[in-house]
Amino acid sequence: MRGAEAVVTRGVFLKRQCVVKNRIAKKYRIKEIDSALRTSRTKVEARLLHRAKMAGVKCPIVLKVDDFSITMTYINGKRPKMNAGESEEAGKMLGLLHNAGIIHGDYTPANILKSGNALFVIDFGLGYFSHHIEDMAVDVYTMLRALDGKVQKQFLSGYESYKNHGAVFARVEQISKRVRYA
Ligand SMILES: Nc1ncnc2c1ncn2[C@@H]1O[C@H](COP(=O)(O)OP(=O)(O)O)[C@@H](O)[C@H]1O
Ligand SMILES: [Mg+2]
Repeated sequence: MRGAEAVVTRGVFLKRQCVVKNRIAKKYRIKEIDSALRTSRTKVEARLLHRAKMAGVKCPIVLKVDDFSITMTYINGKRPKMNAGESEEAGKMLGLLHNAGIIHGDYTPANILKSGNALFVIDFGLGYFSHHIEDMAVDVYTMLRALDGKVQKQFLSGYESYKNHGAVFARVEQISKRVRYA
């Protein structure tokens, strides 16, 4: 499993199924800067996973953090189809993240795993901490674009778990207009 930033491999840690997510070197960056960036991104990602769990959102458990890699529990699941129920749950989870000041940064169905009946949020690799409405609206907008029109309502209704959802909805409207006229 390899994305642009990281390589994810399966393994075992303390007898537990795990995955190791390793942030790979970017050849075009100066070595020292690249290392420093990867280390700080790795730490932020681990912190986000931990805080997401404290916020009541199911996600992998961080088992170990090194300079460039995070060892976390393996979630035995697959990408949800995003039916009405799953979309509502995805909205609710995003609201809980935002209540905790966590911006996911790439909130799409590709970064949600369904295991049994539970949804887990993964890949906080582009995430950060912020309480800005604009940042939250971009998370909402990102998922909306990926969803079938029929289930967008359910996603938005789930998102009402975020205390200031009204302001975010207004900003999402603005963003869609901006995009339409761009
Ligand atoms: N904890 C995990 N349990 C199971 N599979 C995982 C886990 N973390 C990542 N994966 C798998 O690896 C893929 C890539 O990981 P991800 O964190 O999304 O990195 P990126 O998209 O930045 O490459 C995911 O789409 C998923 O299939
Ligand atoms: Mg991903």
